[in-house]
Amino acid sequence: MSDGALDLKTRTAERIEAQFAQVSGDALMGDLAQAALAITESRSEERCGGYRTVAIQRDSSPAAVPPPDAAAVRAAIGPLLNDPRRLPPAPQIYIRLVKLTENPDVSLGQVADVIMSDTASVAKLLRLVNSPAYGLRGRVPTVAAAVRILGLEALKSVVLASSTDGIFGGPIQGDTRMVEQLWYHSIASAVVAKVIAREVGWRDSEQFLVAGLLHDFGQLVVLRGCPEAFHMVDAVANRQGRFLDAESKIYGTSHASIGGLLAERWGLPPVLLSAINGHHHPDPSKPYPETVAVTNLADVISRALGIGYDGGFVMEPIPASVRSLLGLDGNRIRAIAHAVDEEYPEMEALAVGW
Ligand SMILES: [Fe+2]
Ligand SMILES: [Fe+2]
Repeated sequence: MSDGALDLKTRTAERIEAQFAQVSGDALMGDLAQAALAITESRSEERCGGYRTVAIQRDSSPAAVPPPDAAAVRAAIGPLLNDPRRLPPAPQIYIRLVKLTENPDVSLGQVADVIMSDTASVAKLLRLVNSPAYGLRGRVPTVAAAVRILGLEALKSVVLASSTDGIFGGPIQGDTRMVEQLWYHSIASAVVAKVIAREVGWRDSEQFLVAGLLHDFGQLVVLRGCPEAFHMVDAVANRQGRFLDAESKIYGTSHASIGGLLAERWGLPPVLLSAINGHHHPDPSKPYPETVAVTNLADVISRALGIGYDGGFVMEPIPASVRSLLGLDGNRIRAIAHAVDEEYPEMEALAVGW
């Protein structure tokens, strides 16, 4: 094994230990930490190099970072939040599909025609539905088959998921590497959400996959629209603790709420709006508790496995309501983590080329 791969393993193990230090008394999180460490230990050199293990380092020299000018950041991010028109538009193909399916008499042929009119979307859609995470591997050769097999609601989710690389990709101001890391975290969360739904025995799983993929849309909006705000919050969080606390201190809201604004602007289904808004504070009394719970856990597990980066290093314990809703125990948590480690690389290889 090369020094580089060893170094990456050591750093990953150190990161996991530091991340879990604050939740060390929590049995379930202890199981998750053990699973993450075991996976790190067993990764081959090739896997270490190709796997998008988090490359961001915790800031260990606080004095080197100047104190944040929160007023300047608030002034910079304010226009983005106060005028939803400044948020990025939804992918055209998704807008056309939603408009078309508002007509109850629309035929499946008309839906297939709209998708096929956009050749880039055809390729991405077929890659996603035939991906291992989607679970229909190789069984959907054409758009017509996708429309027939998936049905309209699932199809809209898949078209949305397969066109989100437009907002992750494209010209980026600021830190390209951070956007890339967020994309890997989002892909990982999509895979984890799908695996959790499968473990729990829930069939209607594309909504979980899409919720995992989109849960940190708000981070992306900030990274693209006002990257200095993200970096300031990240620097403060890495010195003082929780990313969410740093967000509310510096710009007075959270990436979950910002993602919710984007979801509203795009007219996303209420279940996705709930998952995006609620992924850090799942509340079983609010709508769609199952999807919000899965999204919360998917976020925690993908962070624990260190795939990509979504800001901050502090692990949040898994809420009691999520544990009971999903019937979690240590064995199940370890099984989910190991299944994700198996399934993620292939999904990443597909998603990078979407
Ligand atoms: Fe988040
Ligand atoms: Fe996240």
